[in-house]
Amino acid sequence: MNKIRSGAILCLLFLSMAFQSVAHFKDAVAVWNFKSLDDKTKENSRLSAYGNVLFVKMNSSDAQASRVRGGDGVSAQFNGGWLAAGDGANNELALAGKTASFLIRVKPNNIKGFVPLIGKDGNAQSVAYRVALYEENGNVFVEALIGNDHVTGAHQLKYKLPKETINEWHDIVFRFNGKIAQLYVNGVLGDQEVVVGEIRDWNQKPFLIGAQLSSQAGYATLADKDVAFKFDGLMDHVVIWNRYITDKELQEYSGVKELTDGRPTYYGEKYRPQFHFSARRNGLNDPNGLVYYNGVYHLFFQHWGFPYRPVNNKDWGHAISTDLIHWQQTDDHITPHKIWGGAWSGSAVVDENNVAGFQTDKEKPIIAFITNIGAGDTVIGGRFTQCIAYSTDGGKTFTYYDQNPIIRNISDGNRDPKVVWDEGSQKWIMSLFMKDNDYAIFSSANLKEWQHLETLKLEGVSECPGFEPFAVDGDSTHIKWIFFGANGNYIIGSFDGKYFTPETSAQRGDYGSSFYAAQTWSNAPDGRSLHIAWMASQQYPDMPFSQQMTFPTEMTLRTTKSGIKAFRLPVREIANLYDKTWSWNDRSLTKGADLFKELTDELYDIDIEIDVKTSSLVEMKLRNVILSYDVAKQTLSLGGSITSPGIPAFLMAGTPNYAPLNLVDGKIKLRILLDRTSVEIFGNDGEMVMTSCYMPEQDERNYSLTANSDIHVVRGVVNSLKPAWLK
Ligand code: FRU
Repeated sequence: MNKIRSGAILCLLFLSMAFQSVAHFKDAVAVWNFKSLDDKTKENSRLSAYGNVLFVKMNSSDAQASRVRGGDGVSAQFNGGWLAAGDGANNELALAGKTASFLIRVKPNNIKGFVPLIGKDGNAQSVAYRVALYEENGNVFVEALIGNDHVTGAHQLKYKLPKETINEWHDIVFRFNGKIAQLYVNGVLGDQEVVVGEIRDWNQKPFLIGAQLSSQAGYATLADKDVAFKFDGLMDHVVIWNRYITDKELQEYSGVKELTDGRPTYYGEKYRPQFHFSARRNGLNDPNGLVYYNGVYHLFFQHWGFPYRPVNNKDWGHAISTDLIHWQQTDDHITPHKIWGGAWSGSAVVDENNVAGFQTDKEKPIIAFITNIGAGDTVIGGRFTQCIAYSTDGGKTFTYYDQNPIIRNISDGNRDPKVVWDEGSQKWIMSLFMKDNDYAIFSSANLKEWQHLETLKLEGVSECPGFEPFAVDGDSTHIKWIFFGANGNYIIGSFDGKYFTPETSAQRGDYGSSFYAAQTWSNAPDGRSLHIAWMASQQYPDMPFSQQMTFPTEMTLRTTKSGIKAFRLPVREIANLYDKTWSWNDRSLTKGADLFKELTDELYDIDIEIDVKTSSLVEMKLRNVILSYDVAKQTLSLGGSITSPGIPAFLMAGTPNYAPLNLVDGKIKLRILLDRTSVEIFGNDGEMVMTSCYMPEQDERNYSLTANSDIHVVRGVVNSLKPAWLK
C-alpha cells in the first residue's frame, strides 16, 4: 500500500471511529435526529407533531458538520409547528435525581422575544428543565433553566450569542451533576451556577420541542392554542441523558478540539462597586454567619436570583477574605435543605471547646444558626424555626444537623438568630427577632439546647438583632451590652446572664438611606468588633448583580457628654488599597477657594478636619454627591443623585441623609469613603455615620471642597483607592 492510500484509510478509519462513538449518543435516554418522529433509543419516546414540522435534508456542508457531531444530515424545520412527547416512554423524560445532560443542535431563524427550544416547563415555579433563546435589547441569549427540590423557582444560566453568529448552527449543551450546572454553546462554557440537589420531579407538564405551553395548560388540553411561544428555524438533533456527560463527549458533540471558558469576567461592570462586596451575580441582602476562623473571615449572605428565584427562597452565598478587603466568592452555598423553604438570616460561631460534639478531627467546628422559613406544612416543615448546620472542615462545607430544629416556632416570622459568648455567665447567648419590636433572648451551654430567658420590647428596633458585650472606652472592667436592630438603631444597657436592662432609649445608628441588617464577626481577632451591613439600593441597570455590602467598620463604645455612644469607623485594613495621597495641614481657604480641584479619580478615602471659621455653609461635591454642612444648625445633609433604597421606608431609621454633627471647638471631622455607587460618611470620629448609595454619571469626575466664607483645614488626607477586585 502506498503511503497516501494507507494515510487515507487510517484517516477514514479514524473518522468512522469518531462517528461511531459520537453517533450513538451513548446511554442517552432519548435521541431525536428528525428523520422521523421516532426517538432512536430502545425506549422510543415518539414525538407527536402539532402543526407543520418538516424533515429536510441539509446542504452538503451543513450535513457534514452535522455528521461530525453525531448527527445525520437531516433536520427538522419549524415554522409554526412543534413537537411533544408527554413524559416519554416509561416516564423517561420526567428526569429525576442529581444528573442530567441535554444537547440541542439548532439554527434559529427569526428571534423575537422568547423562543423555546426544549423543556418540561410550566413556569419558573414548576419547571423541571428548559432550554430557550430570547432576545433583549437587540441581544440574543441562550437560556437554560433547572428547577430543583431545594429551592422554589429555578436557576437560570445564560449566554449572550456573539451577534454575527446568531443565525448560524449552535451546539447547545446543558449539564448538571447535583452540585453545578453548566451551559456550553459551541464548546464554549457560557455560564455556570451552583445548583445543589435533585431535579424537580413533580413537574406536571409534557415535554415539548419548539414550543412552550401557556402556564395553565396541561396534558389534557394539549393543542395549538395552548402554546404561548414557538420556535422558528432548524433543529438537527435533540438528545437527553440522565447522566452528566463527560468533557470529551461534550467536545465531540460540539465539534470542537477543546472546550473553552467564555464566561464574562465580573467586577469590572459599569455600576460594580470596586471596594465593597457584591455577589458575582444575582442579588444579596443581609450579611449572615460572619465568623473568623484560622486566618479567614467568612462572609455569608442572603443570596437570591433574578428573574426566576423569588426572594423568599434564599440560600446563604459565601465569600472569604484574609483582610476584610479582598473577597473571593466561593462556589459553595449553604442551601436550604430539601425540607427547608429558604435559609434566612442568622449567625455562626466557632465551637472552640466542642460543646456541641460535632468535632471529627483537628478543625474546630463552625456552627451556623439559620432561620428555616419552612412552608407551613408537614412535608416541608413548620414555619420559621431555628436550625443549625455545622462545618468540620474549617467552613468549606456544612452539614445539616439531623435533629433540627433546635428552636421550634414561637411566633410567626421569628427569625435572625445571633449567637455570642457571654464571659459573665459562661454561656452562649442567642438574641432572636420575634415580631414588630419584640425580641427573645436564650442561653445555652452546648449550642444545641436553648433556654428561653426573656422576651422584651425595644422601641425603635426591629429585625436582625445584634446583642453583644463591649468594654466601654476599652476598659475591660466596664462592660455594657449593646442591642441593635436591622435599621442600626441601638440601645445600651446591662446584662446579668439572664435579663437585659436597657439604660438608654434607641439611639440612631446610621443616618443614611442604605444601611440595614448589620452583623458583627464572631471570634474576630484582638477582640475587635467588626461590622458589615447590607447597603440596600435599587437595581442598577443591566448589571448581573444587585445590592452590595457596606465597607466593614470597627465599632467601639465611648463615653461622651451625652452618655455612652457607639462609634464606627472603617477598618484600618483599607490602607491595603491606598494608591495616591494628597495631604494638607493648616491650610486656610477663602470664600469659594477649592481644596479638591486636583482630584480626578473615582475611588477615595477622605479624612479631613475643618475649622468652619466665619463660614455658615461648607460644601463638598464628590462626583454626583453633594454634602452640605449647615454651621448654624450643626447638621450635615447629603444630596445629589442619592438613590432610593430597596427596603421599605418604615424600616429605615428616621429622615435619611440628614444628621446632627456637632461643632467641637468650632471644628468638624469628616471621614468619607466614596465608591462607584456608594458614599459612607463618618462624622466626628464615627459618632455619626451616614451610609447611602448614589447613581453615578460615568464621566462625572468633579470634586470640590468650598465654603461661603473663610475656613481653615486643620488636617486633611485624601487617598485614592485601587479597586479591590481587579489586579
Ligand atoms: C432583613 C430580613 C431578615 C430576614 C432576611 C430575609 O433584611 O428581612 O429579617 O431573615 O431579611 O432575607
